[in-house]
Amino acid sequence: MKEKENPEKLSRRDFLKKSSSVVAASAVGAAAMAAPAILRAQNINSKLNVGMIGPGSRGCSIIRATKDFQEARFTDLCETYPPNLEEARNLAGNPAVRTWTDWEKMLGQKDLDAVIIATPLYLHVPMSIAALEAGKHVFSEKSMGLNMKQCNAMLAAAQKHSDKVYLVGYQSRLNDSLKMVKKLVQDGSFGKITQFYCHFDRNQSWRRNDVPPEWDRLLNWRLYTEYCGGLLTEVVTHEIDQVMDILGGMPVNASFYGKIMVYKDGRENHDSIMGTWEMEDGVLVVGTGHLSNSSRGSGWTMLGTHGTGEGYGGTLKLYWEKQARHLDTLGIKHKFTQVQLGQSLKESENPNTTPAKEITFEVDADYDKATAREIRHFYDCILNGTKPVMDAVSCRNTSIAALMAYHSSMDGGRQWTRQQVEALG
Ligand SMILES: NC(=O)c1ccc[n+]([C@@H]2O[C@H](COP(=O)([O-])OP(=O)(O)OC[C@H]3O[C@@H](n4cnc5c(N)ncnc54)[C@H](O)[C@@H]3O)[C@@H](O)[C@H]2O)c1
Repeated sequence: MKEKENPEKLSRRDFLKKSSSVVAASAVGAAAMAAPAILRAQNINSKLNVGMIGPGSRGCSIIRATKDFQEARFTDLCETYPPNLEEARNLAGNPAVRTWTDWEKMLGQKDLDAVIIATPLYLHVPMSIAALEAGKHVFSEKSMGLNMKQCNAMLAAAQKHSDKVYLVGYQSRLNDSLKMVKKLVQDGSFGKITQFYCHFDRNQSWRRNDVPPEWDRLLNWRLYTEYCGGLLTEVVTHEIDQVMDILGGMPVNASFYGKIMVYKDGRENHDSIMGTWEMEDGVLVVGTGHLSNSSRGSGWTMLGTHGTGEGYGGTLKLYWEKQARHLDTLGIKHKFTQVQLGQSLKESENPNTTPAKEITFEVDADYDKATAREIRHFYDCILNGTKPVMDAVSCRNTSIAALMAYHSSMDGGRQWTRQQVEALG
């Protein structure tokens, strides 16, 4: 996709439309382009009107995490399951919030600026495209789409409506520790990266037993192929996205094996998957996901010829191979001790005897803070023209990586290439 056009001008135009204090839009608009700070000041009390579709578990987390935001308010909520609608209404903090069960009707509201889509995966694309068509900015939960056809249609719509912000919820892209690792990889501090191990492990069935029978399938959507690709599109997609973010490329093939090992309850999606992606530059990425053991949680380990990075939750550990400390003999441009980590080895420390350092980023470990950070970023893109941390092409690439592994896992572990997956579009 071409670079997003600078949404700054457009968001300001949207702002102008909204602001009741604007008397002569054209005159003020011209001034605004010349003096954006003044425009912000004039509209300081104007808030984005935001609607949410599907305030279930994740959607309510988003409402909670952003309840103190001054730049936006939830004006509309659309939810088909009454108890979830009621909970979201109570959380929204806006007595005038409009509630809906038909999302297309909600999208018809002219004063709605932006939509957050937190429904099951199979609905992300139809809802996102309709929202863009209706002139709304869109934040969609991950993944982008259920299949290649959906992802291609989504990319085309995002490109067509490049004056609107479209963002998919890979919140770790805004994570400081990952940004630092990425920088260290780029400047050669880890040497040649050869392998990545990433995993998502939990001990929970994913089955919701406390729902009325007529709602069972729709609320237990994670278990069925009709609605999502199970562990791969739901959670391991975060892990492969982190690898793609850090390394900057994408996988060319995937060989994954999947099984229903524990929860033989009629589900279709596997409760255990394991396999390998091969990245464009040959780096091997081992990915695993379980619903039957939580000891390792989620995280990744990156191996390079000169060092190792381990990211688990909010903790980042960096280790350097002994020989990497004699960098001049290894052709590394800078000395390890010159890497501006702050928390890393100090000049005074003997690199041969100092153990690996553990670096903790508390802010990144907090789920609510990470959620608030990504939604604030979405609003910032709309209001201030900040470039989205991921464009639609990157969002589609991450979906392709998950779909490659998904098709392989559903095909007895046979290798699936990127071309094969793309051909399904
Ligand atoms: N980024 C993250 O960290 C993160 C975490 C959890 C979930 N998610 C994503 O969020 C999305 C939702 O997950 P969840 O756990 O909240 O699921 P959920 O089942 O708790 O919530 C989905 C909600 O969508 C509603 N819904 C379904 N069809 C609808 C329709 N046609 N119109 C209106 N509402 C409809 C359901 O009734 C339900 O309340 C998924 O895409 C998931 O992958 C992301």
